[in-house]
This record gives sequence, C-alpha cells and structure tokens, in this order.
Amino acid sequence: MERAARIRRSCLAVPGSSVKMLEKARGLPADQVFLDLEDAVAPLAKPDARKNVVAALNEGDWGGRTRVVRVNDLTTPWTYRDVVEVVEGAGASLDCVMLPKVQSASHVQWLDLTLTQVEKALGLEVGRIGIEAQIENAAGLVNVDAIAGASPRVETVIFGPADFMASVNMRSLVVGALIPEYPGDPYHYILMRILMAARMHDKQAIDGPFLQIRDVDGFREVAKRSAALGFDGKWVLHPGQIDAANEVYSPAQADYDHAELILDAYEFYTSEAGGRLGAVMLGDEMIDEASRKMALVIAAKGRAAGM
Ligand code: GLV
Ligand code: MG
Repeated sequence: MERAARIRRSCLAVPGSSVKMLEKARGLPADQVFLDLEDAVAPLAKPDARKNVVAALNEGDWGGRTRVVRVNDLTTPWTYRDVVEVVEGAGASLDCVMLPKVQSASHVQWLDLTLTQVEKALGLEVGRIGIEAQIENAAGLVNVDAIAGASPRVETVIFGPADFMASVNMRSLVVGALIPEYPGDPYHYILMRILMAARMHDKQAIDGPFLQIRDVDGFREVAKRSAALGFDGKWVLHPGQIDAANEVYSPAQADYDHAELILDAYEFYTSEAGGRLGAVMLGDEMIDEASRKMALVIAAKGRAAGM
C-alpha cells in the first residue's frame, strides 16, 4: 500500500503513565505525538500505562497529529503484550508503532508480522499501521540498512542518542553536546549513517532527544546540525522545544521563496514559450535538472510546513 509522507518536524514524547500529560499533549503544536510505554514508564507502571495509552488514543481529537506508541524493546518481556493490547484496544486510532533498540531486520519483521496478525483478527486494513525504528546501539547502526528496508511499514529511522552513547561508552553525559576532548562532531558519522540508510529506502530520518529541557538555545544548536544534513525532525520532550523544532526543520523563508522561483523558472524555460531561449537562468544563476531537484526538496518541505 502507498504510505503517506507525514510531516514530523517535532515528535513529542509523552509518558504513558501520566494521564495529565497525555491529556495536555492533545493541545500542543507538535507534528507527532508518541505515547511512551518504554523508558519513561517504570516497570511496575507498565500495565496501567498500556490502559492509559489505549484510552487516550480512543478519546480521539488529536487534531491531525501523527499518533504513535513506543512499545518496549524485544529484549524485555513486555513487547508482545504492549503491541497486542494497544493495537487490539485502539488500532484504528493509531498511525505507527515505535520499536526501540532495534538490532536487526528480524526485530522489524517480528513487529510487522505481529501487527498483521492483530490487524487480520480485528478486520483492520492490513499494513496501515507504520513502524518507526530506533537505532540505539552498535548492532542497530551496523545493521541499519537492512533495518530501514526490513518492511514496507517502516516510515522512520530514529537516532536514540542517550542509549546509543551509553552502549558505545561515549565519554559524555550530555546528549547532543560536543565533547571538548574530540576535535570534531562525534555524532556526524552516526547521523549520516542513519540518513543514508533512511534515504536508500525512501524513509524519514529523525533525530532523538535533547535532555536539557530548559536550554532551548542548546536544543536549537543540536537540531540545526541534523537539519543541515537533511534530517526531517527531532524529538521534543517539553512544550518549550516544539516551536524551535518546527522552525529549525522547516526551510528558511528565503530558501523556500528561492526554491519556488527556481521551479517557476525551470517550468518556463522548458515550456513551449521559453523552450528555445537556451540555458535555464534565474537572474545570474544557471539552473539544471539537479538544481531543480534540490529546489523540489526545499519546496516540498516548505509546502508541507504550510509556507
Ligand atoms: C532515546 O530513546 C534515546 O535513548 O536517546
Ligand atoms: Mg532510548
């Protein structure tokens, strides 16, 4: 089935254990909400969190936001029950399931088959619920190409920096911050690796959380780095980070306007009227098929952002 490309500049984490925060999330201007059953929820609170999440999805009125539930990872005893309870309880009101700490394509295939079973049992459209795969350790990164291509349900490949940094023994406790002892950007390889795998399979690439929730400037700095590479959005943990994410992952107005001009010029020079005028020019700028493609990317992001 055709999967719609969703806008995901800001992906808001909401702990499934907090009825109050689940309620509040409905009114916040994030492109996506993900209701968390994993690390934001203590082990003993998980059964109740599943019920809260099902109720919150069924209450509806998420105002067009993409609705995602993050289940527990496949090394725990909770994953199957998370998927079955949430999809049986609210499958028709759910857009994607997020699987954390994915280590191989088989993890994604397990989720794909399990979703198919529950969809069939309930008479839901098979394949509609998408998958978001979090890359959070060395195995996940090494296998990221196969993970991104493991199922047509996969919509996003997500960098999980906190777990990732812990799993490879990175010497920093501050997610996203540059490390003074290292004369470069320690995240560059990881982000590019994820981006290449995502793009090879036509998926979105999403950056993970920035934990210093009061430091919006710090959030912006880190977000700008992945946005510059081509990432589609970033997690937000606090309402204060949402506007910054929506802004950073939308094109700058000047770039958007310029992209639309390039597309107009290209259209004119390849039309009946302009087709014999020679090289495609916009002022002093020469435009070819490749620059048209670059403009298409910026224009599509801008239009999706309502520019
Ligand atoms: C997110 O899950 C992270 O570990 O950073
Ligand atoms: Mg994590």
